[in-house]
Amino acid sequence: MVTAAENEDKALDRDCTTLSRHVLQQFQGFSAQAQDLSALMNRVALAGKLVARHLSRAGLMEGVLGFTGDVNVQGESVKKMDVYANDVFISVFKQSGLVCRLASEEMDEPYYIPENCPIGRYTLLYDPIDGSSNTDTNLSLGSIFAIRQQEGEDKDGKAKDLLSTGDKQIGAGYILYGPSTMLVYTMGKGVHSFVLDPSLGEFILTEENIKIPDSGSVYSVNEGNFWQWEESVREYVRYVHRTEGYSARYSGAMVSDIHRILVQGGVFLYPGTVQKPEGKLRLLYESAPLAYVIQQAGGRATTGRMDIFDVVPEKLHQRTPLIIGSKENVAKVESFIQNGD
Ligand code: AHG
Ligand code: MN
Ligand code: MN
Repeated sequence: MVTAAENEDKALDRDCTTLSRHVLQQFQGFSAQAQDLSALMNRVALAGKLVARHLSRAGLMEGVLGFTGDVNVQGESVKKMDVYANDVFISVFKQSGLVCRLASEEMDEPYYIPENCPIGRYTLLYDPIDGSSNTDTNLSLGSIFAIRQQEGEDKDGKAKDLLSTGDKQIGAGYILYGPSTMLVYTMGKGVHSFVLDPSLGEFILTEENIKIPDSGSVYSVNEGNFWQWEESVREYVRYVHRTEGYSARYSGAMVSDIHRILVQGGVFLYPGTVQKPEGKLRLLYESAPLAYVIQQAGGRATTGRMDIFDVVPEKLHQRTPLIIGSKENVAKVESFIQNGD
């Protein structure tokens, strides 16, 4: 029988497994790299806490919600929250000594911090606010990040570390701003989730080595684009409609849709359209980091024709179609797309 004292010990131990401690444990030692990555993740967590705090009070403050009136490099209208969160990440990493380049959805060119650039430093790629259409209606949002080893000179945003395949990611993950704030990350040693305990101001471990179910009943896609897709994607969705047991879930923020799929299984799709064959999602700071998380959890991510990790980016803001989730569901979508070719 477990005694009350043992239970208390267990609860205390869990409360003490903070994110930075967990990263150190992942590397089973205190090597320089383990220390760096732990410090780096601590900064990502700080950015998450700042964004979460801002979001939680957004409706109470003047001038925080709505559009700035600007259009970003993607041709999308920028929200004040996008700018705030983008600046939070810059501010957090400026004097960190850890990150040499920051590249984000909201910046045409990477933000370069020369004093942080001795050999062995890192590059951070991020989507500061994912699902920004949810901002003004108090719905779930996310931030996505990927860590790479700094490599090569940055010539017009074309440094080697920026324009290489997904397997060059050292770590990746997301922060989900939902009813609670969660952080999910991988450093190539499984996928782990943390919940922000507001009373401690710390992300506390909630689940280690998360495994995505091999199949699931959720399909998550914007069916408003039905007639813009290629016929094979339409055929897949018709198949889902005809087959008993599927449920549609689509929130407008892929971080929350993919988090649901990580936990419960299923598939998220953002296929290309006839007008935009590459779709909407950006490879380097949306698709590839989420692919890393899902692959580490035992799932798959593909464009429908090739593994997301095999896509060689030609430019920083490159887009790719994305089909991601449980391996059986992803294989089913692929079979429709490849049979249509
Ligand atoms: P972002 O807010 O960073 O531009 O990303 C939004 C993405 C993704 O999170 C979401 O699933 C998708 O765009 C929604 O797009 P549609 O409105 O076209 O479905
Ligand atoms: Mn996004
Ligand atoms: Mn975004």
